[in-house]
Amino acid sequence: MSEPDEASTVALPAGWRLAERASVDSTNLEASRAAEAGAAGGLVVFAHEQLAGRGRQGRGWASPRGNLYCSVLLRPDALVRDGAQLSFVAALAVHDTVAGLLGKPARAGCKWPNDVLVGGAKIAGILLESRGRPDGRLDWVIVGTGINVAHAPRDTERPATSLSAEGVDVAVARVLERYLTALDEWVNIWLRDGFDPVRAAWLDRALSLGRTIRARWGRREVVGRFETLDAGGALVLRTEDGALTRVGAGEIFEAS
Ligand code: BTN
Repeated sequence: MSEPDEASTVALPAGWRLAERASVDSTNLEASRAAEAGAAGGLVVFAHEQLAGRGRQGRGWASPRGNLYCSVLLRPDALVRDGAQLSFVAALAVHDTVAGLLGKPARAGCKWPNDVLVGGAKIAGILLESRGRPDGRLDWVIVGTGINVAHAPRDTERPATSLSAEGVDVAVARVLERYLTALDEWVNIWLRDGFDPVRAAWLDRALSLGRTIRARWGRREVVGRFETLDAGGALVLRTEDGALTRVGAGEIFEAS
């Protein structure tokens, strides 16, 4: 990877390294190029602007200067099928960062699968990308995170907000520091104790739990009461006929 082209002072968790960029196509792409070139886990790619920021489901992620864009390369000793649990790990780290800065934790909540909302509006996005090995274990995972610090995108399908719009004036580097500290803590809990404590902590912060919601994946849609997360992170809905349905990937909406 090329030399740093900006230099913020960012306190990092032990063993992590910062690659700071003024501008990149996407921090996830930059981190995946580094991973494929053999970079060790703990690399944090932090950019002040992205020219081709990537969102979930093939969408883009508007990335002007003033917001946080970072991707953390991890090489956990874990099965590929457990890698998606890291999106809940990242959501907890984002939630705790945002709630800590707001000083009003009750306004922030986690929306399945890995969104963090404040007052019902999206303040961050998480995009996980990974590569497995033929033995079914992970080679690398990239946890890409965008947090709206100074700007909230307009013209989005759903309402969006930013730390600034919520009355928090904070430097991007300080948000990064808090987020990396929280991410390191939650990753270590996950590595040591597995998904159970992550699942429990996520459920504590979950929005819409116990409410009737619509879950959509591909062309399918199910309406039901949001009962819980299963042991692997799938959404468990109780439909009107009393049956339980599991949804492994997709999006949820409040049922109208
Ligand atoms: C979403 O659609 O909600 C996920 C958005 C993820 C955006 C972040 S910004 C840093 C990292 N680099 C990218 O290109 N995407 C992620």
